[in-house]
Amino acid sequence: MDATALFKMSYGLYVVSAEAEGQRAGCVVNTATQITAEPPRVMVAVNKENVTAGVITAAKAFTVTVIDTTADMPYIGNFGFRSSATFDKFERYGCETSAVGSPYSPEHICALLACKLIDTVDAGTHLLFIGEVVDAQNRSDEEPLTYTYYHTVLKGKTPPKASSYQA
Ligand SMILES: Cc1cc2nc3c(=O)[nH]c(=O)nc-3n(C[C@H](O)[C@H](O)[C@H](O)COP(=O)(O)O)c2cc1C
Repeated sequence: MDATALFKMSYGLYVVSAEAEGQRAGCVVNTATQITAEPPRVMVAVNKENVTAGVITAAKAFTVTVIDTTADMPYIGNFGFRSSATFDKFERYGCETSAVGSPYSPEHICALLACKLIDTVDAGTHLLFIGEVVDAQNRSDEEPLTYTYYHTVLKGKTPPKASSYQA
């Protein structure tokens, strides 16, 4: 098997966030996708060891922001290479609250989806959170940042907890 074939799958980059019991958490994911239109449902895959996974479970809700091409590596690093356990990810880029009560940063995003958690699937290392979109907003006219752009233009790396990581 040639596992590098998986590199040819296409993705965007997102921040998925939630808040419960006074803990705010959020992390970068490339694994977010719309799964149905009626009703509008989306799915995100989050590593069980990420603080964000536990907070989404407790909150029974999550918010997905679509990162746009104005984002730089410090922004990706803020959400994708730090732990919400020891660092407030919503300080540097501002913090607003979505319709389902999740914190999110309004900078460098072109869209936002606020979701009620309706199901969780155990996929091994990751949990698949299925959410019903209860609020959706376009936030800018900038282009969504693709995973290919992240690798080729921003020269970004894939950390071990990302679904698409290969050692
Ligand atoms: C480009 C990129 C893609 C990522 N994709 C995912 C992903 O799909 N799922 C996931 O669980 N973590 C992914 N991560 C890793 C998390 O963002 C990272 O482990 C984060 O620090 C977790 O934060 P938390 O512990 O505060 O939740 C990705 C990170 C980057 C930089």
